[in-house]
Amino acid sequence: MPIGTKYAEAIQKTGLEYQTLRDYKWVASKSHLSLRNDKLSFHHHREVASLEPEQQTYLLKKAVAESWPLIKLKQEKYRLNLEKARTGVTLSDPNYLHGDCTTLLESIPDNSIDLLLTDPPYGIDYESEHREVNPFEKLKNDILEKTLTVLDKTLQITSRKLKENSHAYIFTSWKTYPYLLPIVERYFTLNNLLVWMKNNWTAGDLDANYGQIHEFILFAHKGRRHLNGRRDASVLHFDRVAENGRVHPTEKPLKLLEYLIEKSSLLGEVVCDPFAGVASTCLAAKNMGRKYVGIELDKRWFDVGLERLQKSA
Ligand SMILES: C[S@@+](CC[C@H](N)C(=O)[O-])C[C@H]1O[C@@H](n2cnc3c(N)ncnc32)[C@H](O)[C@@H]1O
Repeated sequence: MPIGTKYAEAIQKTGLEYQTLRDYKWVASKSHLSLRNDKLSFHHHREVASLEPEQQTYLLKKAVAESWPLIKLKQEKYRLNLEKARTGVTLSDPNYLHGDCTTLLESIPDNSIDLLLTDPPYGIDYESEHREVNPFEKLKNDILEKTLTVLDKTLQITSRKLKENSHAYIFTSWKTYPYLLPIVERYFTLNNLLVWMKNNWTAGDLDANYGQIHEFILFAHKGRRHLNGRRDASVLHFDRVAENGRVHPTEKPLKLLEYLIEKSSLLGEVVCDPFAGVASTCLAAKNMGRKYVGIELDKRWFDVGLERLQKSA
C-alpha cells in the first residue's frame, strides 16, 4: 500500500495531523524498543532521537534515574555534544617540571590539556608581609612589564595546548588585573571575575585602608564547556593556607583548587599550571583523580613542590 494511503488512514483513525504522524514515525524509527521508557514522555524520546543509540541510552537512563524534566534533558544533550567535540591527545603521565614555562610548554602536544588553572606572578613585585616566615622571597617575573610579557607568551602557547571547549582560571591582583584583561581576551573568551573570599585579611595599612580579604580569579573559556554540578555563585569562600603551614608566599589552598578542578574537569583529565609554585595545583589535581602538568621556574620552590608530591604518593 502506498505511504500516502497509510497516512490518510492513520489521520482518519487518530484525528492527528500529517506532520504529527510523520514526527511519531521518525521518532519510532530512531528509538529502538529497548531504548524506550514508559516513565518518560514522547518529547523526551524525540529530543534524543537524532543521537547515537549509546548516547540515547546514557541520557534516557539518567533522565529516569534523576527525574529530569525536558528542559534538563535538553541541557544535558547540549553538554554531551560539547564534550564530544573535546577531541585531542591523551597525556598519560603526570608531570611537574623545573624550568621556564614559555619554553617547556612547547614540549606538550597541542590539544592535550583539559583545564588551565594557574596563579602567575601578580606584576606587583610582591614581597611577603610576614618576613619572619618567608624572609627573602621575591617572586620571579613579578615586575609588571615582565609579568605581562611572560603571561602573554604563556597564554598564547597554552591556548593551543588546551582542548577546544575547555576552561581557564587565572588568579590575579586587583592592582594589575586591568592589564591582564586584554591579554586573556586575546586567547580566550572572558566569562567572569570570580572573587575568592578568605577567612582573614592581609596586613597592609591598618589605619587608612580596608582590610583586604579577597583575591580575584579570571574565569575564561576556550569554546564552551558546561560547569559540573549545580550553579554556584561567583564569590567563593575558602580559608587561606594557615601561616604556620605555608611553604610559598602566595600559596593557594588545596580546597579552593580542588573545588575549581571539580567544577571544570572530569576524572582522569589533565590540569595544567604553568606557574606551579610549590605544586599546589598539581597536588589538588592528584587528590581529585586528575592528571597534571606543572612548571616552576624557581628551583627553590620546585624542590619543595617535588617533595610535597612525593610525600602525597
Ligand atoms: C604566584 S606564584 C604561584 C604559587 C602557587 N599558586 C602555589 O600555590 O605554590 C607564581 C610562581 O610562578 C613562578 N614563575 C615565574 N615565572 C615563571 C616562568 N616563566 N615559568 C615557570 N614558573 C614561573 C614563580 O617562581 C612563582 O613561584
